[in-house]
Amino acid sequence: MEKKKRSSFSSRIGFVLAAAGSAVGLGNIWRFPYLAAKYGGGIFLLVYLILAVTFGFALMITEIAIGRKTGLSCIGAYKSLDKRFGALGWLAALVPVIITPYYCVIGGWVMKYFFEYISGNGLALAGDSYFGNFIGFADGGLLSTPLFWFLVYVLVTAVVVLLGVEKGIEKVSKVMMPVLVLLSIVVAVFSMTMPGAVEGLKFYFIPDFSHFSIKTVLAAMGQMFYSMSLAMGIMITYGSYMPKESNLERSVGQIEIFDTAIAFIAGLMIVPAVVAFNGGSAEGINAGPGLMFGTLPKVFEKMWAGHIVGTVFFLLVLFAALTSSISLMETVVSIVGDKLHMGRKPATVAVTVGVCLLGIPSCLGYGPLAGVELLGMQFLDFFDFISNSVLMPIVAFFTCILIGWFVGTKTVSDEVERNFPFHRKRLFEVMVRWIAPILIVCILAGQILDVTGVMKI
Ligand code: TRP
Repeated sequence: MEKKKRSSFSSRIGFVLAAAGSAVGLGNIWRFPYLAAKYGGGIFLLVYLILAVTFGFALMITEIAIGRKTGLSCIGAYKSLDKRFGALGWLAALVPVIITPYYCVIGGWVMKYFFEYISGNGLALAGDSYFGNFIGFADGGLLSTPLFWFLVYVLVTAVVVLLGVEKGIEKVSKVMMPVLVLLSIVVAVFSMTMPGAVEGLKFYFIPDFSHFSIKTVLAAMGQMFYSMSLAMGIMITYGSYMPKESNLERSVGQIEIFDTAIAFIAGLMIVPAVVAFNGGSAEGINAGPGLMFGTLPKVFEKMWAGHIVGTVFFLLVLFAALTSSISLMETVVSIVGDKLHMGRKPATVAVTVGVCLLGIPSCLGYGPLAGVELLGMQFLDFFDFISNSVLMPIVAFFTCILIGWFVGTKTVSDEVERNFPFHRKRLFEVMVRWIAPILIVCILAGQILDVTGVMKI
């Protein structure tokens, strides 16, 4: 039934922009730079790029093809390909459920920074301990707590989901996204030319193989899934809206280039600057989720009209974040609504309450709950780890097994080849059948040994 009613994008470019819009978000601007700084700069970048054009390509083309072929979203799509893989759809659907709450926590931080810039407090944001105090709940006052901003952010997201004004938001973000890219280039050029930035550029560009470890690959792989919205059924849903006659392989290439380019520019904006502020040395930079918030205000402080740049920048990031969290929440709402047979309104209310409850530990994790650790991590890092480094690799693994060994790679390649030749078919086949599953198993095994303390890697 669902099949007949399926609406579809009117043009291939519309599809590419929508999918890229889902892909580009905090993952590119906030998450990529801090992981690159944390996992050795150039070597992370190299591993990421290799994974993106091989594994990322194979998985994205698989997901979009599954979606377009079955015309279903992930829960139904996996089941319709093979009954035994029905549970995989559910596992994929669990990922946005885990991501949405902590995504909103970061969204709240962005909102707070935008608010401070617009109220003329840009100078304070550039202070060394500002960010730490903020997420640590050290500043009194309601407006200064991350909890308040988290709740506001969730409410804004929920209202849009409820009213369904995403069309408007989409229009706005079509204008805002290119502006964000342009502004990021300006900031990146500025940050690359700061005194001491050269060391940072070397760190970002020149791979140092002594920094390589299994963790680098795991982090890069998790980031690739996250940033391209893979291994969580999102691209299956998008694929189900893709016009049958359009060029699938080319679209995938464009989405990947777009997403990777923005992450790359965000890295250029932040990594050389952190190194410059660290006295020109890449040693001992403390890279974590706070990197963007600690570094960028300092960069803006040194720029001409920096407070205006800061205001505009955080507004644009806020938009990129909102478009992503709206579609994340939308995904969860549609799953809850469909499966529990709830109307859209009650489902949205239930999901909003759930997101608030699940997000609170992540929000308090650096402050009142700082003492509580799960596997040695704060709540936010823990949820991030479980979704990106555990669940998504598992979903990706079984997707490869399903396509490579059960239904056959032909299912995907036939769909890709409907009207166009499939240039990288061999690459796709080898990746899906062999390389990707073996890689995932090795990395996950290494990770489990590491976390359980059996073997340190
Ligand atoms: N890829 C998005 C980012 O880079 C985050 C994200 C993950 C997302 N899953 C999603 C966005 C689903 C929209 C829908 O920030």
